[in-house]
Amino acid sequence: MIDFDFTTVIDRRDTGSWKYESFAPDVLPVWIADMDFASPPCVLDALRAAIDHGVFGYTKPRDQLVEIILDRLATRHKWDVNAKSLVFLPGLVTALNLATALLEPDAEVLIPTPAYPPFHHCAPNQGRKTVTVDMTRGERWEMDFDALDAAVTPQTGMLVLCNPQNPTGRAYTLAELQQVAEFVTRHDLLLVSDEIHCDLVLDPAATHTSIAAAIPEIADRTITLLAASKTFNIAGLGCSFAVVENGALRKRFEPTHDGLVPQVNQLGYVATEAGYAHGEPWRVALIEQLRTNRDRVMETVAGLDGVTMIEPEATYLAWIDCRELGLDDPAKHFVRHKLAPGFGSFYGDNQSVRINFATPPANLDEVLARFTTGVLAAR
Ligand SMILES: Cc1ncc(COP(=O)(O)O)c(C=O)c1O
Repeated sequence: MIDFDFTTVIDRRDTGSWKYESFAPDVLPVWIADMDFASPPCVLDALRAAIDHGVFGYTKPRDQLVEIILDRLATRHKWDVNAKSLVFLPGLVTALNLATALLEPDAEVLIPTPAYPPFHHCAPNQGRKTVTVDMTRGERWEMDFDALDAAVTPQTGMLVLCNPQNPTGRAYTLAELQQVAEFVTRHDLLLVSDEIHCDLVLDPAATHTSIAAAIPEIADRTITLLAASKTFNIAGLGCSFAVVENGALRKRFEPTHDGLVPQVNQLGYVATEAGYAHGEPWRVALIEQLRTNRDRVMETVAGLDGVTMIEPEATYLAWIDCRELGLDDPAKHFVRHKLAPGFGSFYGDNQSVRINFATPPANLDEVLARFTTGVLAAR
């Protein structure tokens, strides 16, 4: 295997990094979901070549990029998709909001929680209502279909699925996705399936299953959201895409952004194409590093009283339950101990925190040391 560098600590301060410039400089940030690793060399080379070209005009996806994506969907997701089903957008959150805007004005949007904060916002952003339904926590996090059924009203218009799930790291099984499919069919709902973390499955026993590919019966009611941004750490370049196989749905979805949503950044296309075309060896090495990091977080949490977590099968996110610490707001407590995790309240559970462990080992040492200090100080 080629030896990629996941150990150098890169100073991200003073780069406008949202992660590093939202708290005091002495607070170590582990909240937002981007990685502290440099993007793969193939991506950096492609970006350098694009910059050396020197012209940054209006851009559309090259035919090569479309082919690479279709090929990837066919081989990795077992999904034969037509080129016209792809809708490129500058962000998945944008796509989520656009999908919500398709619903009736009084519609309700169902969200299994805990959930990525913009899932909570898309309905109110578009004048609709969010309805949250707690997932259950046993051996693993699961969607509660009885509770989901009970939450459905005549106004319910959409379910937002996140697979792999942020923040719990669940990679849903086909059997679970079949339950989702039955649920959205039974209640005649639009399904948005956010699969941005699909390339980051860490558990060898787990796989990513794209619901619309695996269960074609629901493809017509599904908008699947994908991007290379988490995989290759290019979130700041703003390039993602939706797969909308139903032509009539796509015709409603596409014009909603006409004149409102900017085109995709040229460099976003370049980086996405290079990552997908040449980044696989780097991705494989990344997964190894993320597994090691995940195991270290698990070990630390297991060694401390008052905090628990379920091993994430995917993503680089650890969702840690802190309720036994008896704190009003655990996230704020950790910030006082110079560590800024994702605030559980934004996800729907203020007694949990989310730690992003996609960081070089030396930095992770410090993250875990500060986490430990915070836990011990609370008890
Ligand atoms: C589940 C999920 N969806 C979407 C996004 C963000 O997507 P984008 O930056 O393309 O809007 C994130 C980022 O953390 C995420 O975790």
